[in-house]
Amino acid sequence: MDRIRIRGGRPLKGTIPIGGAKNAALPLMTASLLTEGTLTLSNLPHLADIATLLHLLQRHGVTVSMNGADGNEGHAGRVLSLTAGEIASTEAPYDVVRKMRASVLVLGPLLARCGRARVSLPGGCAIGPRPVDLHLKGLAALGAEIDLRDGYIHAAAPRGLAGATVRFPTVSVGATENLLMAATLARGETVLENAAREPEVSDLARCLVAMGAEIEGIGTDRLRVRGVRALRGTDYRVLPDRIETGTYAVAAAITGGDLVLTGIDGTLMGAVFEALAEAGVTVEQPGGEEGEAVRVAAGGRVRGVDLVTRPFPGFPTDMQAQMMALMATAEGTSTIVETIFENRLMHVPELLRMGADITVRGGTAIVRGVPALKGAPVMATDLRASVSLVLAGLAAEGDTEVSRVYHLDRGYERLEEKLAACGADIERIEG
Ligand code: UD1
Repeated sequence: MDRIRIRGGRPLKGTIPIGGAKNAALPLMTASLLTEGTLTLSNLPHLADIATLLHLLQRHGVTVSMNGADGNEGHAGRVLSLTAGEIASTEAPYDVVRKMRASVLVLGPLLARCGRARVSLPGGCAIGPRPVDLHLKGLAALGAEIDLRDGYIHAAAPRGLAGATVRFPTVSVGATENLLMAATLARGETVLENAAREPEVSDLARCLVAMGAEIEGIGTDRLRVRGVRALRGTDYRVLPDRIETGTYAVAAAITGGDLVLTGIDGTLMGAVFEALAEAGVTVEQPGGEEGEAVRVAAGGRVRGVDLVTRPFPGFPTDMQAQMMALMATAEGTSTIVETIFENRLMHVPELLRMGADITVRGGTAIVRGVPALKGAPVMATDLRASVSLVLAGLAAEGDTEVSRVYHLDRGYERLEEKLAACGADIERIEG
């Protein structure tokens, strides 16, 4: 298994291009199942999760053609054409779904298009149980018969789905996306209340509209969908990755560096940029919030700030681990509360091994900043935890070796290359 070795203490300077959002790309790819037409997606990141989903879509009968780079300063944003002329199989097997939970997003589209689907239950996951009950209850409200047997979700709607009002008891990105896709081909009107407002949900909704869906309320917590008979193909550009943007912004801050991040969408960055600014980090957007670039710089130690993770537009749970690494080196104490996922503080014991001073009670971490972290061998348990250890390593004195790099490859394209180009002493050790 590959490892990443970092010799810390070098301020990062330069420009980093930001890619398309993984969490937008995955649902957009599953939307190809809704139509016989060709869905062409551009600005797709090159990531292990994208490859895993492509593999699954091919098993469902989707034909895939891939074109080259689409610019963005040498960043190879892929263009992918997906055509689900005929659905060859409505089964998503355990060996794929267990690798990547987002595979469950094929359920809504398959059910809407074919009237049936058999999708493995995702099972446990390092950041908590992450059930799919909201997806299933929502689809049942649209008339699906759902049966859980042999570790699989068996869903059937032989007479098609019918519109209904679904109120989610808690905000779920995935459940909103599954229901939104299913509702586009259901009879009549579906209203999704307490829907997730994450930008990736809105990106999916906008693509569905371009495919012929009728959706109102995009960007709000109430989505109204009038079902149509069929959708068509379209060309769609995946929005920039706000988590990749935030991660490299923290890389600049934690190393006392000065980075320009390009190809971003500043309108999606509110809570993260505000937290960084509050910590004393310079965050400059030359083109204003609407601009596509940001300069992030820090002179010395940042100040501790308090954070609570919330659904969008609140502070994203996917940035919590990275901010904790930054707070571990800040002046003063910060309180970080994780409210979205239980058990998403698995990076804490690893940060402690690097000399951080953190106490955890339930979902709350009290982080007392230390003047310097110390390099150590560390091991990561999930995608964002892994990258927080890379960030800590960039700031630490001495060598840090992060193992289980496959987590990083799920969500960060050419991470070590992008960091090395800005002066980081970082290398991948294969084997
Ligand atoms: C998505 C993102 C993930 C991000 C998360 C929250 C993708 C591919 N992944 O994950 O990176 O961290 O949103 O912003 O887009 N829940 C239930 N029942 C359900 C579904 C969810 O109880 O049926 C709970 C979850 O356990 C969690 C909370 O709801 O506590 C939010 O989860 P959800 O928004 O669904 O996350 P994902 O869509 O899995």
